[in-house]
Amino acid sequence: MSVLQLHNVSKNFGAIRALNDVNLTLEPGEVLGLMGDNGAGKSTLVKIMAGNFPPSSGQIILEEGPVVFHKPVEARQKGIEIVYQDLALCNNLTAAANVFLGRELKTGFGPFRILDFKAMYDRSAELFNELKSETRPRDVVRRMSGGQRQAVAIARTRLSNSKVVLLDEPTAAISVRQVAEVLDLIRRLRDQGVAVVLISHRMPDVFAVCDRVFVMRRGNKVAEKPISQSSPEEVTGLITGAIHAA
Ligand SMILES: Nc1ncnc2c1ncn2[C@@H]1O[C@H](COP(=O)(O)OP(=O)(O)OP(=O)(O)O)[C@@H](O)[C@H]1O
Ligand SMILES: [Mg+2]
Repeated sequence: MSVLQLHNVSKNFGAIRALNDVNLTLEPGEVLGLMGDNGAGKSTLVKIMAGNFPPSSGQIILEEGPVVFHKPVEARQKGIEIVYQDLALCNNLTAAANVFLGRELKTGFGPFRILDFKAMYDRSAELFNELKSETRPRDVVRRMSGGQRQAVAIARTRLSNSKVVLLDEPTAAISVRQVAEVLDLIRRLRDQGVAVVLISHRMPDVFAVCDRVFVMRRGNKVAEKPISQSSPEEVTGLITGAIHAA
């Protein structure tokens, strides 16, 4: 049973047709590599799944049936979490504060409710531990490497019982060693039964960690197939248009 489906999803921004009748199926515990050139519509597609804006036409279908999201919190309530291309972390706060940003734990009652820092540090430590990340809850994000920042953003997606995690170019701006760490984080999510969509321009990353590849060109899906039945050469051809479809 698929955890999420897109059915004939289109999106117009004024005169620009960013997505054109896109169909997609996501199974639990799989990693789907979403590839395509700049402007192909990758971020737009995941933003629709995450409830940033509705499609101009078409449907999002979850296990319980079709859904309409008006804002991201509604998608999150259904177990869909996104890590944006620009991460959207607060650099001056700790790892734990970022994990809980907007969903802070409180203690006490009535007018005496205060932030429960201990609980948030403890839960963050558990999440980093689960993800086998070295990140410490009290570290300030400003002083972290790109890979550690990704770990914070990914830990955030595990606060609630997420079923789908959407990652928009998590390995674009980080060092080789950190890329390996982020790919490991993705494998941990998959092992916990989460369906992961990995947007990436990096062919080695997609072929290392993805079960299927989904290629877009100018708002159209041009391929969706098991990674074992494709090759970096074929995917490159699909992205550039040298190969029409596969
Ligand atoms: N909020 C917006 N308003 C207007 N046009 C937009 C908006 N968001 C995206 N677009 C347009 O939609 C198209 C698809 O953009 P999108 O960001 O989805 O591409 P992408 O595949 O993520 O590219 P990249 O690899 O550069 O991140 C582009 O032509 C872009 O200019
Ligand atoms: Mg993008």
